[in-house]
Amino acid sequence: MEGYTTLAAYYDRFVGADYEQMVEFICDKLQAYGKDPSLICDIGCGSGNVTLALLQKGFDMIGIDGSFEMLNEALIKRDSMDHGNRALFLCQQLPEFELYGTVDAIISTLDTINYITDKKDLDRLFYWYRNYLNPDGLLIFDVNSLYKYQEILNNNCDVYEDENVFFCWRSNFDGKICDHALSFFERDGDCYIRTDEEQKQCYYSIEEIKTLLAKYQFDLLELRDGYTNQDPKEKSERLTFVARVRKGNVE
Ligand SMILES: C[S@@+](CC[C@H](N)C(=O)[O-])C[C@H]1O[C@@H](n2cnc3c(N)ncnc32)[C@H](O)[C@@H]1O
Repeated sequence: MEGYTTLAAYYDRFVGADYEQMVEFICDKLQAYGKDPSLICDIGCGSGNVTLALLQKGFDMIGIDGSFEMLNEALIKRDSMDHGNRALFLCQQLPEFELYGTVDAIISTLDTINYITDKKDLDRLFYWYRNYLNPDGLLIFDVNSLYKYQEILNNNCDVYEDENVFFCWRSNFDGKICDHALSFFERDGDCYIRTDEEQKQCYYSIEEIKTLLAKYQFDLLELRDGYTNQDPKEKSERLTFVARVRKGNVE
């Protein structure tokens, strides 16, 4: 995977996501559809914001991410928390990932799935999701919408700055792949040091995701506009899927 090296140090400051809302949504769905879930795996956990918020809610957590730098941010936070040792962080490259056993729920937030740019790899990821979920296990994840790629990210340049860093995030979308180019200018005394990193994401339609869910015997329980209980709209930027391992499935 590319990216999430220099970005890691600035991710929490600039991500601009409503983690409280995300975690509340996830907890509501775990309660509504889960069978008393206790162990949750957070795929593409990044700097651990969702993982550690769920830990604080009393769940045992496993966070998986391919970026050492992002995981390092998660570990710093974990190590200052009570019961932090109930969160295990593993550095693994998707789509392959390995757990010690099965879990009650898998979550994946903030378009981590869009970073899987090969359809066969995405299929493989869903295979592992199915493999590592207990019967009645829940799968909750989001993807970026076509609207977001076409109307918000395409040909876009976001600029972020504070007293120590200036960085710009440029994005281009070709209808399927979105290329992100990030340039960081970090203050070093009287100079700024430039670092560049690239990321690639792939747009997946609702139908593509539904096909994979069906292939790996998940029932789709809810499809939402982000982390709200609203149906997706024309201008939804993020689509959240709540699915459960199909009952009676003996595979
Ligand atoms: C947008 S961040 C989301 C982080 C976190 N889920 C959150 O809600 O803040 C995407 C994360 O996916 C991870 N990621 C992207 N591609 C990956 C891959 N192929 N293998 C493992 N991790 C990957 C990145 O390192 C990054 O931490």
